[in-house]
Amino acid sequence: MQSTARLARGCTPLLLKHTCCSADRQLLLNGAFSHLKRKQYIQQSQHSCKGFQHVLRASATTVAPVLEKQEVEMAAPNPIYRKDYKPTPYLVEHVYLDFLLNEDKSTVKSKLSMTPNYENSSSTPKLELDGRKDLTLISVSVNGKAVSEADYERTDKKLTINNLPQGKFDLEIVVDIKPQENTSLEGLYKSGGNFCTQCEAEGFRGITYFLDRPDVMAKYTTRIEADAKAYPVLLGNGNVLEKGSAAAGRHFVVWEDPWPKPCYLFALVAGDLACQEDVFHTVSGRDITLRIYTEAKDIHNVSWAMDSLKQAMKWDEETFGLEYDLDLFNIVAVSDFNMGAMENKSLNIFNSRLVIASPSTSTDLDYSRVEGVVAHEYFHNWTGNRVTCRDWFQLTLKEGLTVFRDQEFSSDMNSRPVKRIEDVSRLRTAQFTEDAGSMAHPIRPDSYIKMDNFYTLTVYEKGAEIVRLYRTLLGKDGFRKGMDLYFKRHDGQAVTCDDFRNAMADANKKDLTSFAAWYGQAGTPQVKVSPVYDASGRTLTLKVSQHIPATPGQAHKKPVPIPLAVGLLASDGSEMPLHLKGEAGEAATTKVLLVEEAQQDFVFTEVPEKPVLSALRDFSAPVKLQVEGQTDAELVFLLAHDSDPFCRWEAGQTLLRALLTTLYHAARDQKEPELEDRLAAAGGVPESVTSALGSLLTSKDLDGMFIAAGISLPAATELIGDIPNIDPLLLHNVRKYVVKQLAARLRPQLEATVKQNESAPGDSFVPGEFDQAARRAVKNKALGYLSALDDPAVHADLLERTRSATNMTDQISALAGLADSECPERKTALEELYKQWKDDSLVMLKWIALQAGANVPGNLKNVEKLVEHPAFSIKNPNACYSLFLSFLRSAVNFHAADGSGYKFIADSVLKVDKINRQVAARIVSSSAFTALKDYDLERAQMMREQLTRISAENGLSENVFEIVSKSLES
Ligand code: ARG
Ligand code: ZN
Repeated sequence: MQSTARLARGCTPLLLKHTCCSADRQLLLNGAFSHLKRKQYIQQSQHSCKGFQHVLRASATTVAPVLEKQEVEMAAPNPIYRKDYKPTPYLVEHVYLDFLLNEDKSTVKSKLSMTPNYENSSSTPKLELDGRKDLTLISVSVNGKAVSEADYERTDKKLTINNLPQGKFDLEIVVDIKPQENTSLEGLYKSGGNFCTQCEAEGFRGITYFLDRPDVMAKYTTRIEADAKAYPVLLGNGNVLEKGSAAAGRHFVVWEDPWPKPCYLFALVAGDLACQEDVFHTVSGRDITLRIYTEAKDIHNVSWAMDSLKQAMKWDEETFGLEYDLDLFNIVAVSDFNMGAMENKSLNIFNSRLVIASPSTSTDLDYSRVEGVVAHEYFHNWTGNRVTCRDWFQLTLKEGLTVFRDQEFSSDMNSRPVKRIEDVSRLRTAQFTEDAGSMAHPIRPDSYIKMDNFYTLTVYEKGAEIVRLYRTLLGKDGFRKGMDLYFKRHDGQAVTCDDFRNAMADANKKDLTSFAAWYGQAGTPQVKVSPVYDASGRTLTLKVSQHIPATPGQAHKKPVPIPLAVGLLASDGSEMPLHLKGEAGEAATTKVLLVEEAQQDFVFTEVPEKPVLSALRDFSAPVKLQVEGQTDAELVFLLAHDSDPFCRWEAGQTLLRALLTTLYHAARDQKEPELEDRLAAAGGVPESVTSALGSLLTSKDLDGMFIAAGISLPAATELIGDIPNIDPLLLHNVRKYVVKQLAARLRPQLEATVKQNESAPGDSFVPGEFDQAARRAVKNKALGYLSALDDPAVHADLLERTRSATNMTDQISALAGLADSECPERKTALEELYKQWKDDSLVMLKWIALQAGANVPGNLKNVEKLVEHPAFSIKNPNACYSLFLSFLRSAVNFHAADGSGYKFIADSVLKVDKINRQVAARIVSSSAFTALKDYDLERAQMMREQLTRISAENGLSENVFEIVSKSLES
């Protein structure tokens, strides 16, 4: 991609003598070519690359006629490279902002005190400010004097000022913006009639011209003025300095934030909002005022978020010695928000679905998400705000670390093993897929076109796993020492991932240089372990090897340091004390081996009998593990006896993955007779698997949450990529078969589980109460299995449950049990739920998701109707995610053999892109389109056609462009 940038910045004639495929394609797609040039180019083109030919074809037929009329001349998107980082020639000491908010247009006046950051020289460097093209520039002045037109230049993305004075100066800029027309939900926009902002990553440039990058840290004072009646609440960062009324029924508040910050942490809210207030007493004896703001109708449902906030504040004091640093902390819930939430200094803005919770409308999962995200954003106050990122490539510095912190918090608040299993499942089902697809990138990427495309599972979840590696290796105390040093060194700074690693290393006097490889390489390492037992020498040798598959732009990888936690089980199920050859010290029962080479042997001595290996305990590294020679019997043994809960769960999952793979191949190799008969002939579900799951189900020593996870089948996406050229529909049918077989054979145990875990009449829902939630989890999991039986009695029971449920967890689970069955109860239950909850937009999101994701054949026509339904709004990101992302998960309908599902998604992406580029990009990046090479050839081809069609769209956003072009290249 490197030459892309060079070409894009260079002159057009060069293009005709191109050498680089992707470079030219990029320009072609973005209308940088006139129709004529496009035609010439197409004739001269010698390209052979597959993706390019598709684009050419599509652009010739679809784009060219459009272009003829409009002759759009747009700049091609330039990738930004990490290696090009340079500090800015000017810094900003203080920002004074004045917002005049109105219905037709709003005015933003900024006064920046600028300080030089360049080497002394006779002339001063130019100042390049970022700003979106929809800013209307009213005036720009330096030290009170208007800058002459000759001294500044404007492009669609920049305002460049020349001939600046030596030394410090004041820069004043006035712009007009139209938040009411801003559907991208970046910068300043309106949601539910209120003004709010979202500036990370580069939204501030939609508000005014500024050095919109995280290494420019300044102190902010913000005056907000608006109509007093319509916008009684005016919120900003920091503390209130002044407030009062203004002419014409208006009022204002001035906020001052004493902590220097990058502009991505700036926030403003103006609206008619209700508030719940509380107080937190810090460890040093200060009282912090906590306020949560929502629309009036929701304010009685914020106490769980408030409790979570207080718990998080306390936990951070106790765990990391980190106290809150202002006297006020605000959270505002808005219903139109591109992501989960945002950690703006002292003014967190949240997607309302992560603040509002009530038993009758929120599931146990919703409650735990609220808890986790409220904590996450609060934790950012130290990991992100006090110490921030030097540039956006370092995003994992704050996100990986903060996810790690929120995971630890949730583990301490709930069940640690269950939380670990959930996190690993998410990593495996979604991040591993991303890491093997066309968007694969290291946790610290090397380049991007749109930073918003890199708020990924890789940066967040894999990033958190890399932080966890330090903790595993250095221990809890060593990790804390590293954190302390990190804050001591870098408080108030914008730093890099290397600074974090160095703090960990220096605080523990360890050389962690080799860990840099985890930051620079994409792809999931594959680790093989072969245990070799020598009975006469009483030794066990573990032969360990690692290999990282090639990813786009990274053909060859070097080994990464992998902490591999292992244990050895004796035949009676007990843990053996471990003696590692060449190491003295006490014999523990879990040992962390550090695998640093491509191949390495570890020898255990004094091993009295051939042990069963328990490897990758607690998922000690984000890798794919294969234990060579491991038998089903050993897996069943581990499932029953392993003292490590993660490995116990994993043993069951490994068994099930192997079963699904075997059955898939059996089904694929023959076409006759009926699928069920073919699968039965291939051995069906072996008795050993059924009984292993049966004993898990009836186990007395395990909690319901763990059991529910243990009897869950691995997600289809875990197998995609491992089985080459997969037919997703066949895989779906194989999974369905296995579920049905298990349900039929374990029916008595499943029914008993339901009965035993039924909530007693009068039991009221207590948020966060683990035992209750665990009982609901296993009961609903069992009901899910029973629903696969296609038994009218079960359908009737589920319908009854949707009616009598006293909480949303039970109600929506029962409905989910009906969603994939073509029975009359399905329709009735959906209609009834709609009637009951049509005024609750958060419940409607679940209602939409269940229908959109259903696997009933021919469901696309219903999904198309849903798009038109009053409960759906294409402008609302939550609604789009519920509908489109759920549809992507329907094997039957998204992957329909006639390509209709792919076409629907491509059409939808194009529609959404005109409204909200981030949401559109998220739909494509979540789709199988980014992993098309994993699918059967017919499907891969159909996906490619849709990508080509998207890419040929005139005026496509850079966000979607980046994902689509990378997918076509792979
Ligand atoms: N920093 C926010 C969070 O905690 C997310 C911001 C996402 N921004 C974006 N452009 N996607 O996690
Ligand atoms: Zn975050």
